[in-house]
Amino acid sequence: MLTHSKRIFVSNRLPFTANTKTQTLTRGSGGLVSALLGVNLEESFYWMGFETDSASARLLAEKSHEIQKNLICHPVLLSKEIYDTYYDGISNDLLWPLFHYETQLAVFNRENWDVYRQANAVMAEEILKVANEGDTVWIHDFHFLLLPKMLKEKNPHIKIGFFLHIPFPAAEIFRQLPVREEILRSLTACDLVGFHEHSYLRHFISCMKAFLGVDSTLFKAEVGNHTLNLGVYPISIDTEEFKRKAESPKVEKLSQSYRTQGTGQFKLLGIDRLDYTKGLELKLKGFQKALRMYPELVGKVSLLQVAVPTRLKVPLYGEIKKNLDQLVGAINGEFGTPDYVPVQYIFKSISEETLLALYRRADATLVTSKRDGMNLVAMEYVIAQDIQTPGVLILSEFTGAASLLPDALIINPWDAEMVAKSIHRSFTMPLEEKRQRMHNLQQTLMRYSASAWAEGFLADLEQHDAMIKKDCQT
Ligand code: G6P
Repeated sequence: MLTHSKRIFVSNRLPFTANTKTQTLTRGSGGLVSALLGVNLEESFYWMGFETDSASARLLAEKSHEIQKNLICHPVLLSKEIYDTYYDGISNDLLWPLFHYETQLAVFNRENWDVYRQANAVMAEEILKVANEGDTVWIHDFHFLLLPKMLKEKNPHIKIGFFLHIPFPAAEIFRQLPVREEILRSLTACDLVGFHEHSYLRHFISCMKAFLGVDSTLFKAEVGNHTLNLGVYPISIDTEEFKRKAESPKVEKLSQSYRTQGTGQFKLLGIDRLDYTKGLELKLKGFQKALRMYPELVGKVSLLQVAVPTRLKVPLYGEIKKNLDQLVGAINGEFGTPDYVPVQYIFKSISEETLLALYRRADATLVTSKRDGMNLVAMEYVIAQDIQTPGVLILSEFTGAASLLPDALIINPWDAEMVAKSIHRSFTMPLEEKRQRMHNLQQTLMRYSASAWAEGFLADLEQHDAMIKKDCQT
């Protein structure tokens, strides 16, 4: 790589949020933030994302390098009106449900789509002010599906990588999108497109064939005279750092105090954004089924579900909250006693310390997503475990993580009986089996890291450029 070439990361959210009252920045907690900020880069790199408030944008641009020396945080201003349509109207109301197979929830509106395209064009324009020939632009996620083609058309010599953090759906689902060709034409303009999981890549390949007539091998497609590389790059968490924090005395003390609090000696845990894709109602129904099928669990097993508020402006998220409230009430009404509350339910964000302490105290963690690009909660739970007294991971087969973590109890969350049986199994599992499973899970995950994920993708993207140049010379 040429040392003077720039790297520009693009995502909807910047890695920090600004508080203009206190004039401070807070680092975001998402997986992408630890992955990209953890990349071992000597040179400065840019991170571009949208901001609707000019004072916050100024603060972000001025102060981010105080937190991360080599980061040039580049907020791109967008009017609130355009942002809301691009983010809620299309990203959250159309693309998110459709890519997660919730076809009946996906709302397509042509005017909104035009605004989404406009928002992508604003970002393209800003990137082109910074990016030159030979620079690398790495675009993240479904908020920017139209960006690759906009950039390539203006400057074909910028290296463009795109990573999709959510599933890429099967062609029979994707075909529902009235703008399917426009999206595919844009993505095929990239030099490298990456996914978390092989099935997502296969679906993308089927869509290129079905809707653009483009043939490809598993890792390469020739689109006109352009070579598109494809790959599978499962993201991870910052394993070393997470382990270190989980083992800190402060977390240990907190988790000990949690152990003795609450009801039920066997503690199940759920940590999810309150999103319909996470299958929270399936989790509660599975737990209810377990209490019905196995009376010996009643009074002994309790579930603590933390539901982190998200996308509150989308009405559907309010509805699923209502359903959940009712279900929690129904289960507690059916099985609760004055000294036993089967489900404890928290609807708020929790601090990282609390999260780690909850992971350490949990006897089992349940992930019941209906569809989930990867699911980092599963990974965090595994890494936070003390191998002497480990818990059990119960993991939906519909997560990207399931293909990496076969030593979890893999479940179909739609099968309430199967969820119930896995809860019972975790309750009765001998310590030796728990240790063996957790050991295997930890060994697997310690081979991955968030920064290695990012470095692997970037190496392939930049290597790709080198390969093309070599091909041209021979
Ligand atoms: C998923 C998406 C991310 C998104 C995150 C939180 O993980 O892949 O792009 O940032 O959800 O959603 P939000 O809408 O709050 O950014």
